[in-house]
Amino acid sequence: MGKTANTSVRDLLFGDLWDYAPAPESRDHLTIHERYGHFIDGKFVEGEDHFPSINPATEEQLFEVASADEATVDLAVKAARKAYDKVWGKMPGSERAKYLYRIARMIQEKARALAVAESLDGGKPIKESRDVDIPLAAAHFFYYAGWADKLEYALPGASPSPIGVAGQIIPWNFPLLMAAWKIAPALAAGNTIVIKPAETTPLTAMMLAEIIQEADLPPGVVNIVNGAGQTGAAIVNHPDIDKIAFTGSTDVGKIIQRALAGSRKKLTLELGGKGANIIFDDASLDQAVEGIINGIFFNQGHVCCAGSRLLVQENIADELMHKLRHRVSTLIVGDPLDKNTDVGAINSREQLLRIQELVAAGKDEGAQIFQPSSPLPEKGFFFKPTVFTEVTPSHRIAREEIFGPVLSVLTFRTPEEAIEKANNTPYGLACGVWTDKGSRLFRVANALKCGIVWGNTYNRFDPTSPFGGYKESGFGREGGLHGLLPYLEVR
Ligand code: NAI
Ligand code: MG
Repeated sequence: MGKTANTSVRDLLFGDLWDYAPAPESRDHLTIHERYGHFIDGKFVEGEDHFPSINPATEEQLFEVASADEATVDLAVKAARKAYDKVWGKMPGSERAKYLYRIARMIQEKARALAVAESLDGGKPIKESRDVDIPLAAAHFFYYAGWADKLEYALPGASPSPIGVAGQIIPWNFPLLMAAWKIAPALAAGNTIVIKPAETTPLTAMMLAEIIQEADLPPGVVNIVNGAGQTGAAIVNHPDIDKIAFTGSTDVGKIIQRALAGSRKKLTLELGGKGANIIFDDASLDQAVEGIINGIFFNQGHVCCAGSRLLVQENIADELMHKLRHRVSTLIVGDPLDKNTDVGAINSREQLLRIQELVAAGKDEGAQIFQPSSPLPEKGFFFKPTVFTEVTPSHRIAREEIFGPVLSVLTFRTPEEAIEKANNTPYGLACGVWTDKGSRLFRVANALKCGIVWGNTYNRFDPTSPFGGYKESGFGREGGLHGLLPYLEVR
């Protein structure tokens, strides 16, 4: 039976009653080249200064990828400018839409290969890349394809027109999905693009480049340059870019904001978070446990909107924590390509070191750590699902974004205290509220200073729903009608 001996609380039964046979997804339908350069003006171009992209679950090199210098970024910007002036900026929306629909359908057709690539290059479980990342990426292209010829209706009387060339920089936690979030609305609005994938996860971006080429998108409309922070900075500082869209760390967000101060460039930032998942005593606890698990262990906790601070009403804390510890013990940590895996590999050694440092700080500052007893794979970057109790608001693990599978639990007595604690952070991206009472849900949701509030669920995404932060979590919205606005000029 269950692994915990407390008889006063009935345990939910999960798959810890039997062992799973390995169920690895096949790699056969995926071709990975030895080297990738850049995608500029509709062509794959060779690059220089190659560096390895590894599989974080095995630490083996998957391929090499080039690093774009300022001259290469300049070629990409020139191609984007030419495509904007000559073709894309003038094309009727109904024509632009056809390309977006085509890209969406091709992502669906190649979904299996894309999912395997995403899990190999970045470490996320195949069930997530297969069921979340890739379908949502296609859905974003479908959704914004629908807006391309209806911009006048989206903003009645505002005569919306495109901005020009957009420079976009994306992170490693949802590589293809973040590319779709950035590319689809920009193209629908009539802009052209220079985009840079994250240095640890460029594979699906290069596969998207193949799709874009096959879809016959006019050359230069989307340009993809590879590289790390220096390449990103070259995009940010290029004088002929009209708008920058960035998703990543708050530190780099601040660097970009400083770099653009006083310039004419428009900017949207989607940065970090320290989301509160608030559980009231009238909530359905078994459902809340699933929401807590999904909130912090989805994608190894590499999620800017993760529910990384659990706020539990004090009178149910013991029962909820008992159920939660039991459930955490049943999570399967391991091979990202195995269809049974719940928690895959940490994206990089650097990220693993950051998580280890913050977890050590949690222990040093006196919080109580819980981790399941099952061992981790010997090779690769893995970290056990971790729950800290006896956390106080001043602990580093309660204040700083860990960006890993680590939950910090705090308690509260009244709704006012829950709201105060939830808002006690420089961030303001996402929160969750679990209660049986609709009136309480709406009252608390309205008092939370964050861009997204989930009610009795967590980490649900939809292209029609705007996403973005308050405070140091950034500004501007992606998704939905709001997601078009940063890419449009209005009169
Ligand atoms: P990062 O912010 O350095 O990387 C994100 C992207 O920005 C990458 O494409 C990177 O190449 C690029 N970049 C780096 N420096 C740049 C610069 N000076 N100018 C322009 N672009 C630049 O994030 P990193 O170092 O990978 O992760 C550090 C922490 O950031 C994580 O532990 C996590 O807390 C947070 N993070 C948050 C993300 C989110 O979705 N909100 C995504 C990634 C990281
Ligand atoms: Mg990689």
